[in-house]
Amino acid sequence: MKKIRWGIIGTGHIAHLFASDFCHVKAGELRAVASRHKASADAFSEEFDIELAFVDYYSLINSHEVDVVYIATPHVYHFDLAKACILAGKAVLCEKPFTLNEGQSKELYDLALEHNVFVMEAMWTRFNPVIEQVIEWVEDGEIGALNSIQASFNFVAPTDPEHRLMKLEMGGGALLDIGIYPVFLAQLFFGKPDFVQNQAVIGDTEVDLFEQILLGWESGQLASLDASLISCNPNRATLSGSKGYIEIDSPWYKAKSCRIVSADNTERVVSIDFPGQGYQFEVDEVNRCLEEGLLQSPNFSWEDSLALIATLDEIRQDIGLYYPGEEQAADDHHEADVHEHHHEHHHHHKH
Ligand SMILES: NC(=O)c1ccc[n+]([C@@H]2O[C@H](COP(=O)([O-])OP(=O)(O)OC[C@H]3O[C@@H](n4cnc5c(N)ncnc54)[C@H](OP(=O)(O)O)[C@@H]3O)[C@@H](O)[C@H]2O)c1
Repeated sequence: MKKIRWGIIGTGHIAHLFASDFCHVKAGELRAVASRHKASADAFSEEFDIELAFVDYYSLINSHEVDVVYIATPHVYHFDLAKACILAGKAVLCEKPFTLNEGQSKELYDLALEHNVFVMEAMWTRFNPVIEQVIEWVEDGEIGALNSIQASFNFVAPTDPEHRLMKLEMGGGALLDIGIYPVFLAQLFFGKPDFVQNQAVIGDTEVDLFEQILLGWESGQLASLDASLISCNPNRATLSGSKGYIEIDSPWYKAKSCRIVSADNTERVVSIDFPGQGYQFEVDEVNRCLEEGLLQSPNFSWEDSLALIATLDEIRQDIGLYYPGEEQAADDHHEADVHEHHHEHHHHHKH
């Protein structure tokens, strides 16, 4: 079978980690990279031995030598770039968060369906073999009924107000960058929550610096999660069940080991010493899906991605965090509701 040819858009932090792990993938070839700057494109292509270096993103998107595009830019650019890829018939692996909000994600998945193009949000943790082991334990009933999940993702980010994480217009803040991981973990096991409660601290630049999130499900589960750009933390995850618990070792989102402890305190540890950081597994999944002619991964589907961003939207609404353009849209929506209500009322009168 012909090698699947990958192109990377952006040459920043995550693009480097991704390209470093690419040598561990089962199949596929890193064929192209695109940067806004010639020097970065050239340096990146040299460092990772990539044949094609483009100095604008759209040349890569339209290149006949690329089958799948990995989008590694700040969140705010994901929507336009993924849209261009879909329209050009290129498969897409797009960094998380897939887009800023549910409306944008829905539009892209609809477009992908219409154009018959594979798209996946790069929720790489889903494909970590340690997470696969945890899913297997839970499904096999090894900890009985899973009742609660606790998970953290904290780190100390640069405080420079020009850094993308501190800039509202870049989609900055803790929730979309790292809070997305614990919410993903909870939804992996429990699905979309029925109840959402939050406490957040908003910084000088109007982005969320940290938050604690409490999710609840009518079926009787709870998740207690936190994200922070200003704290150190072991970043563990614990899944508590009626017959035992599972600990995903630190840092849980890229763990190489986990342990299961039963009610009588016997402990089993599983270590999976894979090479690199673990970005190779999402690539393997995309290649597998493309070879099977799928439009989405059954392991992190469009529905999973939409449910995830919908919860993040809900949390943001709750803490009053809107990105430029969104608050207006929220107001308009509200007005439309009022209008509709009025209309209904009027209709009612006529009878
Ligand atoms: N999966 C993970 O583990 C993980 C980890 C970190 C980040 N991420 C995600 O990956 C995305 C990128 O994060 P990052 O930490 O890699 O960011 P970064 O280091 O700032 O790199 C982003 C790259 O995007 C390109 N870009 C395009 N327009 C830009 C602009 N106006 N300002 C800055 N850069 C621009 C730049 O590449 P050129 O200069 O080459 O054009 C830049 O190097 C985010 O969505 C983030 O959530 C994922």
